[in-house]
Amino acid sequence: MPIVYDKQKRVFKLDTNKSSYAFHVTESKNLLHLYYGGYIPETDITHMLRIPEDAPFVPSTHDGMGPHSFDCAAIEFSTSGVADFREPCFQVMDKYGMSACECYYKSHNIYKGKPKLKGLPATYGTEDEVETLEVYCADPNNGMEIVLMYSVFPQCDVITRSARVCNKGKDPIELRRLLSTCVDLDRMDYDMITLHGTWARERHVERLPLRFGKQSVDSNRGSTSHALNNFIALCDHTATEDFGEAYGFSLVYSGSFLAMAEVNQYEKTRVVMGINPYDFSWHLEIGEEFQAPEVIMTYSGEGIGQMSRNLHDIMRNNLIRGKWKDLRRPILINNWEATYFNFDTEKLLDIAREAKKAGIEMLVMDDGWFGHRNDDRSSLGDWFVNEDKIKGGLKYLVDEVNKIGLKFGIWFEPEMISPDSELYKEHPDWCIHIPGRPRTLVRSQLVIDFSREDVRDYIYGRIKDILSSANIEYVKWDMNRQLSEVGNEVLPPERQREIWHRYVLGVYDMQERLLTDFPDLLLENCAGGGSRFDAGMLYYSPQIWTSDDTDAIERLKIQYGTSLCYPCSCFGAHVSDSPNHCVGRITPFETRGHVAMSGTFGYELDVTRISDDDKWNIRKQIEEFNKYNPLVRTGDYYRIGDPFANDRFDAWEFVAKDKSEALLEYVQVLKEPSVFLHRVKLKGLMKGAYYRHEQTGKVYSAELLMNSGFDIPSLWGDFRSYIAHFVKV
Ligand code: DGJ
Repeated sequence: MPIVYDKQKRVFKLDTNKSSYAFHVTESKNLLHLYYGGYIPETDITHMLRIPEDAPFVPSTHDGMGPHSFDCAAIEFSTSGVADFREPCFQVMDKYGMSACECYYKSHNIYKGKPKLKGLPATYGTEDEVETLEVYCADPNNGMEIVLMYSVFPQCDVITRSARVCNKGKDPIELRRLLSTCVDLDRMDYDMITLHGTWARERHVERLPLRFGKQSVDSNRGSTSHALNNFIALCDHTATEDFGEAYGFSLVYSGSFLAMAEVNQYEKTRVVMGINPYDFSWHLEIGEEFQAPEVIMTYSGEGIGQMSRNLHDIMRNNLIRGKWKDLRRPILINNWEATYFNFDTEKLLDIAREAKKAGIEMLVMDDGWFGHRNDDRSSLGDWFVNEDKIKGGLKYLVDEVNKIGLKFGIWFEPEMISPDSELYKEHPDWCIHIPGRPRTLVRSQLVIDFSREDVRDYIYGRIKDILSSANIEYVKWDMNRQLSEVGNEVLPPERQREIWHRYVLGVYDMQERLLTDFPDLLLENCAGGGSRFDAGMLYYSPQIWTSDDTDAIERLKIQYGTSLCYPCSCFGAHVSDSPNHCVGRITPFETRGHVAMSGTFGYELDVTRISDDDKWNIRKQIEEFNKYNPLVRTGDYYRIGDPFANDRFDAWEFVAKDKSEALLEYVQVLKEPSVFLHRVKLKGLMKGAYYRHEQTGKVYSAELLMNSGFDIPSLWGDFRSYIAHFVKV
């Protein structure tokens, strides 16, 4: 039983295969956290409550609370204004202007399976895979009901959490914050790992020791952002990829977020995560509910690598959905870096013909096919085919591409509107804006108001028409700016601050409609590269464009950082031109292929203008992709090198779940003289087994490969790559 309630001790215990999570209902009905860490068998653990023997000089108790100080205790769900001075998860403002809240246990329910979260992405599972606990709580003073939801996925050592509130009081109330999780850990000697970046440099890794006080990452941009990702990890100072304790937290949400670790004066750490309370407020009429998004939490006692593998497994198996979830994705060629806005039907057909010869399977027409868009300054919202460019119309183009033998995909940026568009002329109020204030343009565009159903209906109608007009099998859904001047002329004042979240719900609604109407469609999310690379989007699209930086060497860091939380099977990754358009670096075609092969794989260059050698290279790469993609998609991923720690090399490995094969990928970044052989230790092989190195036929023991290592042949020059395939004999 993954979830048990020990009635006598009033302890809830949630077990995965290798971790346990526990909390206690006190006599006074407060919920106090007991433990999160490696598996423990017993439930009689109330001695682990953090009740100090010497009452410290801090606010202590009130009658309802029992013998605990709010400020010292490990609180299961922190509330505001009641002498727990750490970060609260829950705050309301009642009609008297009061904001103190409490959370008292009322009842609970344990059941197999997991319900959907209304309007939100969330993990899912069968009754055999997951068990759920709902804890019903209440604040008798303001009439709020708080439901804490926990779901346990034993196989991948994951526990998910979310919270829901319902106004069961006698008056409307303003919800000021509702975070999704609160975990009060017993120590402070952790490092915190976060992913930061900017456009074309997403998800670089930062690892710093926790210090007293609050340390957080967040977004107040309305979407996840290039700048900071909504994933954090805490690990031992000494934790490595393979040793030590590590906790991972990933928010299944795509809007403004807050993820914080706070160390208090007693050297304990509180982790909270959820929708950013910044500029947030939600009006709750009597009987209305608010559902906070889900957080995926995992614990690994076997290093940071295992933490990542747990997250990869839950996302691949229980978050990503739909037809393409477990399927090999078509090898695509996207015309963005090949032509930018400068293309027409003939150019696209030329690309398609050459691509077909090389073995590519799908042509994706990127930005610039609609309205009068010949640069990035116009036409967003005018989702009508520009027949000056797409001569003969879209159906003709798609039919011709299909006749050549390729599938066809198309780009949209549904969440945007250009002031220079027919749509804006007709509906200047359809963008997010504050009446009377200037509307800030980013990339010459405004954000269309997806909090409004009428606006969504119109845009969805256009997308549906386009997709129904021809045999379109893939959509790249782009989003190239973040929200500012958040307001509209529709909602009443007390609901204006809801727009941030209503907007995100609107995006989810649109993507859900798309997948319902076009269940075979392959959807790839994108946001100015990887600005909305989060677990929320993975519920809708099995792949996300990782970064506009397609340079193989830059991608080492981007893909390494992204892999801390997300599975490689969802990394949009393409082979592009050299010199690279972002950084001007010249890299071998082979290296670009090997790096892209660790993601979804495709091309983004003008295949009509490359050398015959490179055309041959594409054919060879496609053979390799076909051979190794099942392993990349389904295997366990091991980071071996660390591109942030050295500029000599990076290496990583995919190992089949049954350990029958392994693929080692190696990139020599800067060549060093007089270093002839670089020996790389493999990971995750089956001890006692022997593996044949496919390229040479030589057989090695798993122990030799893991303890001594495999010699990478000497590679001449910078940015060279090498792959080695091992098959268990
Ligand atoms: C940003 C995306 O990341 C690119 O791949 C491309 O689609 C452009 N937008 C098009 O404007």
